[in-house]
Amino acid sequence: MTRPRIGIIIGSTRPTRFGDIPARWIRDKADATGAFETEIVDLRDYGLPFFDDVASNLWAPTQHESVRRWQEKIAELDGYIFIVAEYNRSITAALKNALDSAYVDWNRKPFGALAYGSMGGARALEHLRSIGTELQMVSTRSAIHIAGADFFKVHPGFGGSGNLDDIEGSIGDSTRAMLADLEWWTNATRDAREADAQREAA
Ligand SMILES: Cc1cc2nc3c(=O)[nH]c(=O)nc-3n(C[C@H](O)[C@H](O)[C@H](O)COP(=O)(O)O)c2cc1C
Repeated sequence: MTRPRIGIIIGSTRPTRFGDIPARWIRDKADATGAFETEIVDLRDYGLPFFDDVASNLWAPTQHESVRRWQEKIAELDGYIFIVAEYNRSITAALKNALDSAYVDWNRKPFGALAYGSMGGARALEHLRSIGTELQMVSTRSAIHIAGADFFKVHPGFGGSGNLDDIEGSIGDSTRAMLADLEWWTNATRDAREADAQREAA
């Protein structure tokens, strides 16, 4: 059995974003488990329009080549780790639009998250979990939250180091827990989707 494929989706697109630093850090941690094939998925590479199709792709195919490319990328992955910036107590508009721009491709797949902000991105991640329910996804219970003084310690925009190893004492346990949850759910849901496909083909 091949290793499940995990997309690490950076939720922020602004040129000076912090999001690249946690994305690379969690990719390295996920790779070190040996449980996954990982890749960083950058919304900047897709140039998605603000959603203007007649419906989600549950009901009608998209009219846009860029959205089709996005849907194909989401479809080929078995699970996701969202890098969650908190903008005004929610996820970024760019991430919400990207979530809306696919539907069937997200279904019955799990996600973990690394969230950050003064409150550890907790409010944004709870919104994301609610959105994930509608997309028929399963959220891991455990997530990584970079909060308060830790956030400022590692955020270069606030004079921080840019090195998440500096806060390993705060986020090490939750990182291991999130990755273990994600491994379990990714394998369980992949097996179940494959069993469904075999039943449908029989
Ligand atoms: C439009 C906007 C709204 C923000 N709202 C919040 C917020 O509600 N809570 C918070 O903790 N940080 C907030 N911040 C600060 C962000 O946590 C910080 O800028 C972070 O670096 C954003 O992620 P990014 O650099 O990857 O885009 C906000 C930043 C922006 C640009």
